[in-house]
Amino acid sequence: MQEIKIFSPLDNSLLGSIKSMSKEEVDKEVGKAKEAFYSWKEMPLSQRADIMYKAADLLVANTKKLADLLMMEVGKDQKSATSEVTRTADFIRFTADTAKSIHGESIQGDTFSGFSKEKIAMVTREPVGVVLAISPFNYPINLAASKIAPALVSGNTVVFKPATTGSLCGIELAKLFMEAGLPEGALTVVTGKGSEIGDYIVTHQDINFINFTGSTEVGLDISGKVHMVPLLMELGGKDAAIVLKDADLEFAAKNIVAGAFSYSGQRCTAVKRILVLEDVADKLIHYLKIEIEKLKVGNPLNVQADVVPLISEKAADFVWELIEDAKQKGAKLVIGGTREGTLLYPTLFDEVTEDMRIAWEEPFGPVLPILRVKTVDEAVKLANKSEYGLQSSVFTENLTDAFHVAGKLEVGTVHINNKTERGPDHFPFLGVKKSGIGTQGIRYSIEAMTRVKATVINLNR
Ligand code: NAP
Ligand code: G3H
Repeated sequence: MQEIKIFSPLDNSLLGSIKSMSKEEVDKEVGKAKEAFYSWKEMPLSQRADIMYKAADLLVANTKKLADLLMMEVGKDQKSATSEVTRTADFIRFTADTAKSIHGESIQGDTFSGFSKEKIAMVTREPVGVVLAISPFNYPINLAASKIAPALVSGNTVVFKPATTGSLCGIELAKLFMEAGLPEGALTVVTGKGSEIGDYIVTHQDINFINFTGSTEVGLDISGKVHMVPLLMELGGKDAAIVLKDADLEFAAKNIVAGAFSYSGQRCTAVKRILVLEDVADKLIHYLKIEIEKLKVGNPLNVQADVVPLISEKAADFVWELIEDAKQKGAKLVIGGTREGTLLYPTLFDEVTEDMRIAWEEPFGPVLPILRVKTVDEAVKLANKSEYGLQSSVFTENLTDAFHVAGKLEVGTVHINNKTERGPDHFPFLGVKKSGIGTQGIRYSIEAMTRVKATVINLNR
């Protein structure tokens, strides 16, 4: 059996190892999920929901253990790691509540001309079958459970492929779901590198639905290989914070800095560029600098840090390339631009222009470019020029302007006077363009992973 060793990004210590599964081992796990589907979907919803409540309780009971592992495995600070666990428990409970509140409907035929009311459709929702849940490294508990719980509670079984970095957390999460009372096969875990087992699993004939969160690169690759299998995908982003002339600049700066640099910007929803009206740019930068100087930078093993070492040397090198490119092409470094190994200091660039990579690429690291604009229309145009369309923020004191801009932005969510962020988790969450396919959010996730079934009765016989 081949193994993959998992090392901590914080101190390079060996945390454990996972199986690098062969095709036969993957088949076995998918087979178990397929077999379990028929009995799991017949279990009354109230009982499936009870298992979810139990799983949430177990998560809470294991908060410290999971948060410690999260910190070591994906380098999160203790506070964020703890909140990821508690947020996930809330998510699972809300999922069970929501599943119980989704009802079908009946439709009488005579609402359509030429048909009688004796023809009635009963519209219900059915699970889709075996859901393949693939999660990214940055929220190994939350972005796994936010696929697993809505899929399970609706009667699907799940094959879960955690990100390799994050898989120890993923395996612990799956154990807690099992301990909560899931029958054998309702949730199985496949491990191994996506680059090795990914193609095999996404094209597996017994997978009925793929719920993927990760990079646009891998998402595009999967969507090009899969045929007639529905996809739910949350991918990369380049979220813009648009700051209008009348914005409360101090407030905007606080929001933007928190949004851009927490967990070193390793969040899909991190603020990844600022588009500011040039009349107020200097003043905004003044406040941004003050806020950035307040950030705690360091290793979560030693300090409760906002800016932490990046997940890998490769990730840090990539962000560094973007910084170098911006410097070379004449961007003005406001603060940061230094590095100690994988720890990059929070970096702010002014006077970024469209020829610079940082204007368009997702760094997934602590670097934030400012593009000055002359008009609101120019800000909207630049925002929409991105290949991504996850979220945007608009900062202004004028709600009419805010709605005007929001209406023009090609993104899944617009935040008015707020940083970009996913939560609360029952809000719809989606990306357009290369940021995703379909909609997550608790009710939306359940709806996505169930299909409508109409049973039509003819009383007129
Ligand atoms: P990633 O490299 O795309 O990996 C995501 C998942 O896909 C991992 O489980 C990975 O497994 C797997 N994978 C890799 N190659 C695969 C293949 N050929 N077929 C099937 N699966 C494959 O992303 P990441 O670095 O973990 O996460 C960062 C990215 O995710 C960023 O772009 C970020 O914006 C995005 N993200 C988006 C959201 C959102 O909701 N929109 C949320 C979080 C993150 P291995 O780990 O084994 O390679
Ligand atoms: O990385 C993507 C996560 O879905 C972001 O969630 O906005 O709550 O940090 P968050």
